[in-house]
Amino acid sequence: TTKNVAVIVGSLRKESLNRKMALALEKLAPDTLKLGIVEIGNLPLYNQDFDDDPPKPARDFKDQIQNADAVLFVTPEYNRSVPGVLKNAIDIASRPYGKSAWDGKPGAVISVSPGAVGGFGANHHLRQSLVFLNVPAMQQPEAYIGGAGKLFSDSGDIANDSTREFMQKFLQSFAQWVERHSAR
Ligand code: FNR
Repeated sequence: TTKNVAVIVGSLRKESLNRKMALALEKLAPDTLKLGIVEIGNLPLYNQDFDDDPPKPARDFKDQIQNADAVLFVTPEYNRSVPGVLKNAIDIASRPYGKSAWDGKPGAVISVSPGAVGGFGANHHLRQSLVFLNVPAMQQPEAYIGGAGKLFSDSGDIANDSTREFMQKFLQSFAQWVERHSAR
């Protein structure tokens, strides 16, 4: 059966390399995974005062995570950590306490950077939250995609054969991971 994967991109800018990666992955995914970006740019800043009655964009976002079979994070690294917009989205769907939308969703992390280190710091800081949120996050293969400034063709495809094949394998492994860790 096909699993719906909520793809969360940790950058809001139009020309985001991470968004390009997410869109390229939608096309590379095996038939058993349906990838779709869930937007986070319209979310308010998380405020615990609103836990009883969250603003509509926050409620809608949480519902979309709740309805997904799995989650895939595609994120840049900001100052060696997770961009605030992504952390905000994670916090929003995690509350109120005991009612987290993340609980038990199989997940994976991809970090993309024009730099050489491939967003390793963000990738692993994100995993720290996923441990607490009970998101079983695929350990292997890891995806720290560096040098991404030259990675995408004008049509948005991954122009480098070895990276494209690697991402394809990553998605196949993720499909198995999702199958193995799905409640249904
Ligand atoms: C960055 N960038 C960056 N890159 C990196 O590899 N490690 C880092 O710690 C940082 N820190 C950082 C902080 C802030 C505030 C910005 C705006 C940028 C550079 C970053 O990787 C680059 O801008 C990417 O292109 C951002 O990803 P998107 O927007 O292209 O998806």
